Amino acid sequence: MKKDVIIALDFPTLETTIEFLEKFGDEKLFVKVGMELYLQNGPVVLEKIKKLGHKIFLDLKLHDIPNTVYEATKGLAKFDVDILTVHGAGGYEMLKAAKDGMLAGGSEDTKVIAITQLTSTSEKMIKEEQLINVSLNESVINYAKLAKKANLDGVVSSAWEAQLILENCGKDFLKVTPGIRLETDEIGDQKRVATPEIAAEKGSTHIVVGRSITKAKNPRAIYDLIQEQFNK
Ligand code: C5P
Repeated sequence: MKKDVIIALDFPTLETTIEFLEKFGDEKLFVKVGMELYLQNGPVVLEKIKKLGHKIFLDLKLHDIPNTVYEATKGLAKFDVDILTVHGAGGYEMLKAAKDGMLAGGSEDTKVIAITQLTSTSEKMIKEEQLINVSLNESVINYAKLAKKANLDGVVSSAWEAQLILENCGKDFLKVTPGIRLETDEIGDQKRVATPEIAAEKGSTHIVVGRSITKAKNPRAIYDLIQEQFNK
């Protein structure tokens, strides 16, 4: 089955988002709505994108006390998004509350997945800023196992850790990997970047691509190229 390339719709307004989506004609996409778009425009974004027939990855990276996260996901359930993110660092009880809230809200189909370590985080940062004394890989695996134990459907990591997650959490556990760059791209603020081919090799189930597509002269052509490379 063809694996999805999720396009990160990191735009400030609904108008610029729709204008971008129009470049893809009638094609049904899997898109990521993150904090930039959602926080400035609200749930209307989800309704509009759903109506256009696209799948939605709602990347809100929830991180709060378990009760607050439970109530938030219970409320978000009505939007019936395909994937929602929460932060693994919130801990076991919070992760479990996120999934329980989604189920209590009536959305059995929404996959709830945990951020392990952001793809903009380096080994040096986890040592010096987070004071974590294990390797970045170990930290990612720790969060992946915690997410699995809490009944979550998968995790977000860089492509470089996807294989380890596969070995530790199995084939059906989602491995969603941002930080994707083509050989010719700028890296920007990301640290643990990989090409679509590497992501496929390592076992990513979905890749998330923002600027490589959204800032391209011909987004459609780059999207097709990335899809081809990820599904080679
Ligand atoms: O433009 P770029 O391809 O770097 O965008 C990556 C997208 O994936 C951004 O929207 C970012 O918020 C998101 N993301 C990430 N790393 C994570 C989780 C989400 O880069 N661990």
